[in-house]
Order: sequence, then structure tokens, then C-alpha cells
Amino acid sequence: MKPNPLVIAVAAAVLGFFAAIAAAANHGPETINIFGGQSGNVPFTHAQHQNRLNDCNVCHSIFPQETDAIKRMKESGALKPKKVMNLQCIKCHKEEKRAGKPHGPITCSTCHKK
Ligand code: HEC
Ligand code: HEC
Ligand code: HEC
Repeated sequence: MKPNPLVIAVAAAVLGFFAAIAAAANHGPETINIFGGQSGNVPFTHAQHQNRLNDCNVCHSIFPQETDAIKRMKESGALKPKKVMNLQCIKCHKEEKRAGKPHGPITCSTCHKK
């Protein structure tokens, strides 16, 4: 039986569609509202940080690339509250500030929004 070109074209389109979804989904949302407890949640520019830092594991070495990963790990005791905040977010922003470079927020209310 000769392969039907229409079937091949449709199959290729379907595969391309799913590949595009997978590629887009891998990067996660452009912005994420991170759970921040009583101080208020933290609006986070995910895509801008990906572009700046060029290495997912700067952050994802201690929590997976999943929705609400940090919150779930804190609830199960796998991650201490404020660890991501202190050892990643604030640490880096302070280092950039010390180096005289443009840096992210360092004070509570510039990150946490009620
Ligand atoms: C500056 C830190 C940082 C960098 C760098 C970073 N991420 Fe994230 N990412 C986060 C945070 C914070 C979350 C939110 C986790 C949560 O909701 O608990 C997250 C969540 C995600 C999620 C899940 C999003 C969702 O809600 O469905 C995906 C997927 C993801 N990241 C992919 C990536 C990829 C791919 C890269 C590299 C190209 C990357 N991230 C780089 C901090 C970062
Ligand atoms: C650079 C942004 C940033 C700054 C500045 C910042 N935070 Fe956070 N904070 C976060 C993020 C992100 C989380 C969630 C991840 C975690 O627990 O490490 C968080 C989590 C917390 C939590 C734990 C919430 C919970 O219930 O798990 C508390 C409490 C907190 N912050 C208080 C503060 C206080 C007080 C200050 C000022 C001294 C401050 N934060 C400054 C980003 C920030
Ligand atoms: C390894 C370094 C690094 C880490 C880790 C990091 N940031 Fe940043 N952040 C930056 C830099 C650099 C800027 C940009 C300053 C500029 O260009 O104005 C920035 C800017 C920001 C801004 C201002 C909006 C923007 O994107 O310009 C927010 C809000 C912010 N960071 C939140 C966070 C939070 C929350 C975390 C932790 C989940 C985090 N950052 C982790 C380096 C970092």
C-alpha cells in the first residue's frame, strides 16, 4: 500500500502542534505569583529572570519546575520557609547591588504585595 500523503501531512501537523506545546510549557509562565505567607504573595518576573540568568538551575536546583513546588515542599518539610527568599532571591539581588549593577528588590514590601 502506498502511503497516503494527506495522512502523512496530518500526522506531521499533529506532531508539530504537540512539540510546540511541550516547548512552550517547559519554560513555565512569564510571571508567577509566588506564595509568600502572611507578608503577602511575591509577583515574580520568571521569563525576565530566565533571559538574564541563562541557567534554570540557578533556582531549580532546590525545587522542581512545577506549579506551587515551593509551597508544597515547605508544607511537607522538604524546604525551610524563606530559604528560596534568602539564599536565592535576596542573596543575588544584594550581590548585584554590591557589584554596582542593576539589581532586584531587597526590602520586604518591594517583593511582598498584600
Ligand atoms: C530566578 C529563579 C528562576 C530561574 C532562573 C528559573 N525559574 Fe522556573 N520557577 C521559579 C520559581 C520561583 C517558580 C515557582 C515555583 C512555585 O510555584 O512554587 C518557577 C516555576 C517554574 C515552572 C512551573 C510553572 C508553573 O506554575 O506551571 C516551570 C515549568 C519552570 N519554572 C521552568 C523553568 C525553566 C525551563 C527555566 C530555565 C529556562 C527556569 N524555570 C528558570 C524560579 C526560576
Ligand atoms: C527578593 C524578594 C523578597 C524580599 C526582598 C523579601 N521576600 Fe520574603 N519571600 C520571598 C519569596 C519568593 C518567598 C517564598 C519562598 C520562600 O519561602 O523562601 C518569601 C517567603 C517569606 C516568608 C515565608 C512565608 C511562608 O509562610 O512560607 C516570610 C515570613 C517572609 N518572606 C517575610 C519577609 C520579610 C519580613 C522580608 C523583609 C525583611 C522579606 N520577606 C523580604 C521574596 C522576598
Ligand atoms: C542570580 C541572580 C538573581 C536571582 C537568583 C533572582 N533575581 Fe530577581 N533580579 C535579578 C536581576 C539582575 C534583576 C534586574 C535588575 C534590573 O535590570 O533592573 C532582578 C529583578 C527582579 C525584580 C524586578 C522586576 C524585574 O524583573 O526587573 C523582581 C520583582 C525580582 N527580581 C524578584 C526575584 C525573586 C522573587 C527571586 C527569587 C524567586 C529572584 N528575583 C531571584 C537577579 C536575580
